[in-house]
This record gives sequence, structure tokens and C-alpha cells, in this order.
Amino acid sequence: MEDTKFTSPTSFSETEDLDQEVQELLSSLPKGKGWFGADLCQCQGFWCQTNFLRNVICSQRFFQSHDQDIILASFPKSGTTWLKALIFSIVNRSRYTSSNTPLLTSSPHKLVSFLELDLFDKKELPIDLISTTRTPSTSPRLFATHIPYSSLPESIKKSNCRIVYICRNPFDVVVSWFHFLTQHKHAEKLDEEHFESFFKGEVAGGPFWDHVLGFWKESLERPHKVSFLMYDDMKEDIVTHLKRLAEFIGYPFSTEEETQGVIREIATLCSLKSLKDLEVNKSGNYLPDHANNSFFRKGKVGEGVNYLSSSTKQRLENVMQEKLSGSGLTFKMS
Ligand code: A3P
Repeated sequence: MEDTKFTSPTSFSETEDLDQEVQELLSSLPKGKGWFGADLCQCQGFWCQTNFLRNVICSQRFFQSHDQDIILASFPKSGTTWLKALIFSIVNRSRYTSSNTPLLTSSPHKLVSFLELDLFDKKELPIDLISTTRTPSTSPRLFATHIPYSSLPESIKKSNCRIVYICRNPFDVVVSWFHFLTQHKHAEKLDEEHFESFFKGEVAGGPFWDHVLGFWKESLERPHKVSFLMYDDMKEDIVTHLKRLAEFIGYPFSTEEETQGVIREIATLCSLKSLKDLEVNKSGNYLPDHANNSFFRKGKVGEGVNYLSSSTKQRLENVMQEKLSGSGLTFKMS
């Protein structure tokens, strides 16, 4: 298949002015505070963590997606790490076995980078990511992002690349995020206020509802382009989901592989227990303030509602229903 061609990326010299431009943009944007005082700005309809605004703008302006790329999209704490391990394993299964896969020695976040968190955070633009010419490779390029659908780089929307979105019950996302952010602040306690603010929307990447609905609607309109996965469903039946996922990204398992147990092997390798127990995921850091081990906790389904009184749970469920009404998207509640 021919790669979709795009106009050449804007010239390098423009990046010199980018910092200035972002500063000017920032000063014009509404500001907010996320949990624990995180600086947020409201940009293109979503709450962006201020320190990542430049990277988001940079990836929008310069990233050139190719038809073979696979984009892993998610709202934070929805199972991104898991999805990275699974897709990396699917597309590289002819190169590696479960005894020599790079997953044994590298964090899934090192193997599949985020556009706005690590790839476009340098002063220089990554040449290979801004080029319209595809260098031949044995496997597709894998990228992750937390950017909402409406703000994705245009080249991702226009190319024939595939997008896989993983979505998780918002009550569990709140708990997961809280623990992720408070690893070193044990004095903090998760309370109903955290759920209230999350459901209102003023959180990094939020509103959650707009994020999930953006990808959900696109998955209905262009099912060949966007696959919408539910974390809870994957926990329930990973084998079926792995098969569907592999087909969607163009790497279907053969009947022979199925009988040989390749699907089960990938599921086991990428399970929370197995990844969490690896030395590489117990130590070291992915980003300066994100320890590798902070991405692996309990992976429970339905944990969130335990923090709420029945009246608050009911009220927030009503908010959720209202936000999702008419979309066809629902979350199973325990
Ligand atoms: P909990 O905090 O509820 O345990 P993300 O990868 O998007 O940051 O999401 C992190 C959440 O996914 C955490 O949830 C983490 O435990 C869970 N997780 C990480 N690896 C997983 C895996 N292999 N299987 C299932 N869940 C996983």
C-alpha cells in the first residue's frame, strides 16, 4: 500500500520561534489547577498539563504519520502500559519469543513512546518523525498518546494508520490516578472530592467524557481506523480481545499459532503479575517523576465505587449517564 503523502513539514527554523509562540498562546489560555496543584491550561477544548503544551503543539505541527503506523491512544491510567506490551508483542512475535523479548529488559514505555511526553519534548525535532518518507522496517512504528482525538496531529487522522484506544471505567481511573500521583505522598487520602473534580472535568487530559467520546464516535464512524477497547472486558477475556486486536492491526494469528498457544503465551507475558515482577519494572524511572513501578499496581475492576457512599455513587452514575447519553457508550457498574 502506498503511503499517504503530506505536504512537507514546516521548516526547522520555525521551531526556533515555537517557544515564543507557545508562551504567547499560553498567556492567552484559561488556566486551571489539577490534582495536587498541577498547572493546567485549556487548549483546543481540553485541559492540557501546561508543561506539555509545547510538545502537543509540536507533535500537531510536525508529526508525519505513515499508513503502517499504529497509534495507541488512551486517557491516562486506563491501561496504556498493558496495551503497549500487548501490541509490541503482537507485531514483533516473529522476531522474539517470550524468553528473549525486549519486554523482559525494557519498560513498555521505553518500547512504545508517547508523542507528547517524550518524542516531541526535545528542542530538536526528531527527523524520522517529521519525514513523509517511510524507511523500510520489519515492523510498524508504534506510538502512544493521551491527546484527545480532536487535537491529534492531522496526519494521524488523514493517513491510513490504525488507532487503538483503550478505555476504562472512570471510577477506577480516579483511583488509579490518585495512587499514581501520590506514591510519594502517603499522607494524602482518596476521598469523594477527587471523584467530584474528575467528573467535573478539570483534570489533565480532561474532560474524561470528551476524551472517550471523541474516540468512541470515531470508532463507530470509521471502524477500520479506530478500535475501541474496554479495559474491563479485556480483563475478563484477554484471549478473545488479543485475537481481535491482532486482526485489527493487520497481524492476525494463524490457526497454527492458536493451537501452539501463542496467544496465551502473549497474554501471560503481558499480564500485570508477570510485568510487575520483572526487575526492569521494579526499578528505574520512565520520566524523571514517573518510576517504572508506578505503572503497575492492582489492576482491579470495580475498585473505585468502594470509596463512595451509595448516594454519591448514585449521583455520579447519573452524571456519567448524562454525559454519555445518546452515544451508545456505557460502563458496566458493579
Ligand atoms: P491500577 O492503578 O488500578 O492498578 P496506565 O498504564 O494507563 O498508566 O494505567 C495504569 C493502570 O493499569 C494501573 O491500574 C495498573 O495497575 C494497570 N496495569 C498495568 N499493567 C497492566 C497489565 N499488564 N494488565 C492489566 N492492568 C495493568
